[in-house]
Amino acid sequence: MKTAGFIGCGHMGGALAAAAARAAGGEEILTADRHPEKLETLQNACGTIPASLSETASDCRYLFLGVKPQGMKALSMEIRETLSSRKEPFVLVSMAAGITLETLRSLFGVEKIIRILPNLPVSAGEGVILYAASAAVTAGEEEGFLALMRSAGLSVKLEESKIDAGCAVTGCGPAFVCLWMEGMIDAGVRAGLPYQAAKEMTVRTFLGTAALLQKTGDDPAGLRTAVCSPAGSTIEGIAALEKSGARFGAMEAVTAAYLRNKELGKN
Ligand SMILES: NC(=O)c1ccc[n+]([C@@H]2O[C@H](COP(=O)([O-])OP(=O)(O)OC[C@H]3O[C@@H](n4cnc5c(N)ncnc54)[C@H](OP(=O)(O)O)[C@@H]3O)[C@@H](O)[C@H]2O)c1
Repeated sequence: MKTAGFIGCGHMGGALAAAAARAAGGEEILTADRHPEKLETLQNACGTIPASLSETASDCRYLFLGVKPQGMKALSMEIRETLSSRKEPFVLVSMAAGITLETLRSLFGVEKIIRILPNLPVSAGEGVILYAASAAVTAGEEEGFLALMRSAGLSVKLEESKIDAGCAVTGCGPAFVCLWMEGMIDAGVRAGLPYQAAKEMTVRTFLGTAALLQKTGDDPAGLRTAVCSPAGSTIEGIAALEKSGARFGAMEAVTAAYLRNKELGKN
């Protein structure tokens, strides 16, 4: 049996298949998709093995499903019989946003399921993968899953009911950060910097700030205080941010995304 298989190798499935290949070796990863060119690209980049839908569904210890949520029902009809005929234990890993463990269990007829919510930075190895596991997944199987995903970024286990909240921070967060970056770049250009320079400086400032917080374990408030010298320019900028409601804006954005996630989950 192969270590992992990926059905649906688009943006997210492809990025996670590449991460799994880095962990287990490409020859241990089967990939299936309606578009052979996506499988070829992955094979050339990481040595994964293109396979049919049924081979992938029948021969992998971890079976990742990377199709869009609206395609999950059709996929379940295509592979349910193959899954039910399997003798050895295997774990189904679904990345479909909004599809619960319970729905997955009834669609695919499988008890061992890990539901994941990866964010886009997994494709740079700096992502966050939120996950919830069904009771039938053993500690050893969970360890195996974590090992496969290690090079994609940080995996965080949550109660399933907290995934909507986590997703508002990690899944939607990259878009919020980008909007903030756009503002900083524009301001740099307004103050006379060339666009490219302003962009590189902004990206590096975000990277550096995040790296420092990660290294020290400090709270953001501590780092901010350390940067603000008395009567200096940074505290003037902070006053302008507070006046514009930036902090509350960030809270509103995450809260709005959370409420929308909950609403989408009901449909
Ligand atoms: N992109 C993100 O940032 C993100 C974040 C979190 C979670 N997710 C989840 O990740 C999943 C994939 O999203 P994505 O953005 O990677 O989608 P995507 O780029 O459209 O990739 C999905 C791939 O699966 C193929 N496919 C669909 N049904 C298939 C089937 N029955 N057999 C074989 N191949 C099939 C699709 O082909 P066709 O195009 O012909 O249908 C497409 O190539 C979704 O469930 C989404 O909720 C994505």
